[in-house]
Amino acid sequence: MKVPNHIAIILDGNGRWAKRRGMPRSYGHIVGCNNLEKMCDEICEMGVKYLTVYAFSTENWKRSADEVKVLMNLFRKYLRRVEMKAHKNRMKVRIIGDPSALAPDLQEEIREVEEASADYDQMYFQIALNYGGRDEIERAVTRIAEDASNGKLPEGRVTGEIFERYLDTAGIPDPDLLIRTSGEQRISNFLLWQLAYTEFYFTDVAWPDFHKQDLIEAIEKYNGRDRRFGNAK
Ligand code: FPP
Repeated sequence: MKVPNHIAIILDGNGRWAKRRGMPRSYGHIVGCNNLEKMCDEICEMGVKYLTVYAFSTENWKRSADEVKVLMNLFRKYLRRVEMKAHKNRMKVRIIGDPSALAPDLQEEIREVEEASADYDQMYFQIALNYGGRDEIERAVTRIAEDASNGKLPEGRVTGEIFERYLDTAGIPDPDLLIRTSGEQRISNFLLWQLAYTEFYFTDVAWPDFHKQDLIEAIEKYNGRDRRFGNAK
């Protein structure tokens, strides 16, 4: 089976999954987090080079204070574990999004894991934390305007190639396949620029139940499609 070079995943449905079991939403996030660890290994073993996951959006701050707290604590623990995984899988970890709104200790964890894994190139794992596609574009345009006024950018048209250098995903190829779990069929402000030519795969399976076989199905569907654009141009 030919695997896509870059898979992006919107990890959705943790809350509903837990509710169906009469459990609090936080339980769904814990199981979802464990599943991400497992799936990250599976995806690495399958030979996928780039994996990008949507863990916390700029809109997710609107959730209850309790739920935000649970998620932040989960990220804290997870980032420590992901560092071990980075060494095991020789995986370079990058957090995309705006870290400035995160707690200082979380920002420190991010710096640490990025630094510890900076030289790996077996796999590239991007975690979107406090990420929004529009926010990313606003931040990029702001920096472009600054550099233009400081004379750091050549005069004239800001090409796509220049623009991409200012995105959080600079240097990372666009996703070939986007998977969204749990039934919703929208992109919810994820990678707005980068998904221009990406194939979308939507499944009703909730993230905590999404395992290797579900991934294989998604990849088989993807392989059956006629890719005429984007990376397959
Ligand atoms: C969507 O489920 C999930 C999230 C908002 C958080 C995703 C987080 C994890 C999978 C936890 C671990 C991730 C990392 C990187 C540590 P939802 O709450 O929107 O579910 P619902 O749509 O059923 O309400």
